[in-house]
Amino acid sequence: MKAIEIKAYGNMDVVNYVDVERPEPAADEILVRVQYAGVNPVDWKIRNGLGERLGLKLPIRLGGEITGIVETLGANVKNFNMGDEVYGLISSGGFAEFALAKSTDIALKPKNISFEQAAAIPLGALTAWQAIFNLANVTSGQKILITGASGGVGSLAVQLAKAKGAHVIGMASGSNEDFVRNLGADEFIDYTLQNFVDFVKDVDVVFDTVGGDTFSKSFNTLKKGGFLVTAVEFPTEEKAQEFGVKAARVFCKPNVQELNEITQLVDDGKLKANVSVVFPLAKIKEALQLSEERHTRGKIVLQIA
Ligand SMILES: NC(=O)c1ccc[n+]([C@@H]2O[C@H](COP(=O)([O-])OP(=O)(O)OC[C@H]3O[C@@H](n4cnc5c(N)ncnc54)[C@H](OP(=O)(O)O)[C@@H]3O)[C@@H](O)[C@H]2O)c1
Repeated sequence: MKAIEIKAYGNMDVVNYVDVERPEPAADEILVRVQYAGVNPVDWKIRNGLGERLGLKLPIRLGGEITGIVETLGANVKNFNMGDEVYGLISSGGFAEFALAKSTDIALKPKNISFEQAAAIPLGALTAWQAIFNLANVTSGQKILITGASGGVGSLAVQLAKAKGAHVIGMASGSNEDFVRNLGADEFIDYTLQNFVDFVKDVDVVFDTVGGDTFSKSFNTLKKGGFLVTAVEFPTEEKAQEFGVKAARVFCKPNVQELNEITQLVDDGKLKANVSVVFPLAKIKEALQLSEERHTRGKIVLQIA
């Protein structure tokens, strides 16, 4: 089968489109015939060397977000049948014709959307869910600033926060204003024209998906007792105390119960995937290159089947 592998860390030259053996599921795993896979910043970050810091061993098969059809079941798997349409997070090897998934990490795919759309949901939605609901505990009526509101995580965070009844301020460049407002944002900040700290005050929660200066400046927009949750940076206790707020980093983990709730929101039409570009598996380098430019609207996906 075809797969994407790196044998060393580095630039795009280390990314290889290779022929490998089809993997065999362990007792608690399922083998998925991958239809589409989501392309995420973590993929090129792993290629750049994050893999080493995460304790991964080379060679590494890239790809952690898949949707496809159950091909075979491990001996102990009782919760799926062959032919089921599934989606979710896997630890590696998703950019491939077949991939292994833990049967406890994967969920049935929403029925009313395509595989292409389904590939754009699990990582962004679970990250947003765990950040704004589990950590920041956003409630109805609260004001939330979402930076990178047009990206893979932000575009789902805007919709989840709205579904919860929050007042959402989305931040991206002006070219994404209509997109972000159509996701449900009540207010929009164009970071290329406006210094957001002059316009956004006293929010209950910031969900930062950009990092750097945007992360640092976001503290100024919170009210006392507010919560800053970031997908990118590692906030210190000192910085949080200086502003009288709480701050945390989200570490997205597979969670099938949450993914099933996300599926329900998709089925109810309250959460939509936004795929902006589709590449075939063989064009992985172009896909990673585009992701690395950091201006993806919604999601880049790979078509595999
Ligand atoms: N900790 C975790 O568990 C976790 C999980 C998932 C993702 N992440 C991280 O979260 C980050 C976001 O992921 P993603 O998939 O959403 O990335 P992405 O899709 O590449 O985000 C791109 C979006 O960011 C916007 N953007 C870029 N610079 C901005 C700025 N200065 N202010 C506001 N918006 C800006 C862009 O809008 P414009 O084109 O309009 O500039 C674009 O739509 C990545 O660093 C990723 O590695 C962490």
